Amino acid sequence: MLLLEKARMKTLKGERVRLFSGNANPALAQQIAAYLDVPLSKALVSRFTNGEVQVRIEENVRGNDVFVIQPTCPPVNDNLMELLIMIDALSRSSARTITAVIPYFGYAKQEKKTAGREPISAKLVANLITVAQASRVITLDLHAAAIQGFFDIPVDNLYAQPIITEYFQMEKKLDNGGIVVVSPDAGGVARARSLAERLNATLAIIFKKRPRPDVAEVMEIVGDVKGKVAVIVDDMISTGGTLVNAAWRLKEEGATAVYAAATHAILADQAVDLIVKSPIEEIIVTDSIPIPAYALRAKFKCLTVAELLGEAIRRNHFNLSVSKLFT
Ligand code: R5P
Repeated sequence: MLLLEKARMKTLKGERVRLFSGNANPALAQQIAAYLDVPLSKALVSRFTNGEVQVRIEENVRGNDVFVIQPTCPPVNDNLMELLIMIDALSRSSARTITAVIPYFGYAKQEKKTAGREPISAKLVANLITVAQASRVITLDLHAAAIQGFFDIPVDNLYAQPIITEYFQMEKKLDNGGIVVVSPDAGGVARARSLAERLNATLAIIFKKRPRPDVAEVMEIVGDVKGKVAVIVDDMISTGGTLVNAAWRLKEEGATAVYAAATHAILADQAVDLIVKSPIEEIIVTDSIPIPAYALRAKFKCLTVAELLGEAIRRNHFNLSVSKLFT
């Protein structure tokens, strides 16, 4: 996706900017660095023999705008600790600002209490990032937008949807008018409605229930799917249960083909196998989290969010508006 005319933009070359990566998604960090034409800065991010995270920043960052690229995907706690300790090290090294670039924000599903005596883990994680001395957060498709309010520092919550829309419009060229965009649960309706508008499609909503954690059951579908190409859109795929159950049900209800799109491919447990055996023809995900090679050989199509995140970094450094990237 061409977000801007590269020839005319102010580049980060020669600017007091440093990009760092933890171990969560170095390939994405490399691509962001390539987009910005700035090399990744050197840091040791390793483990002591006792298992604790060891960090040493190996370049001078004094007075620089520093960006730490680290999704908090599995292994969630390790990646989160790397992020926190890197921010701490950069703060103690006199960076001017420290932006945590978190393409996938882990613990986001625990953003409210659903029963007594439960934590609000997303708030705790927000506190940890703030206390570590981050100045700002750039993230992507937060599971719940309200998590932005858990921070007392600025949060840019970007959306992968323009990239996904462009893929459907330019590459797949699905039959306009014969498409129904499906939200696999009530929480995703706004996301699905927005994609439906962009694709000139109708909307359907699945009501699901979770009899226990990580188990999803389809209860009913509201909306007409018979004779249409269904595109299920979600923010993340964890066990794959939500998508796969939705896909089988859509086929039963007469959808002619089923596609799916989700920003964050966590792909826990047997998710890839489940999806491969499902009626989903193709599943579009992003590289916010590293995708295993065997998934890419199967039905998965991975779109990069490197330009989007890189552009948000560039705009933050030059104090330019980021909201253009939301549309
Ligand atoms: C739930 O609210 C989310 O938007 C996803 O639908 C869910 O996290 C997917 O999980 P799984 O793949 O385990 O069904």
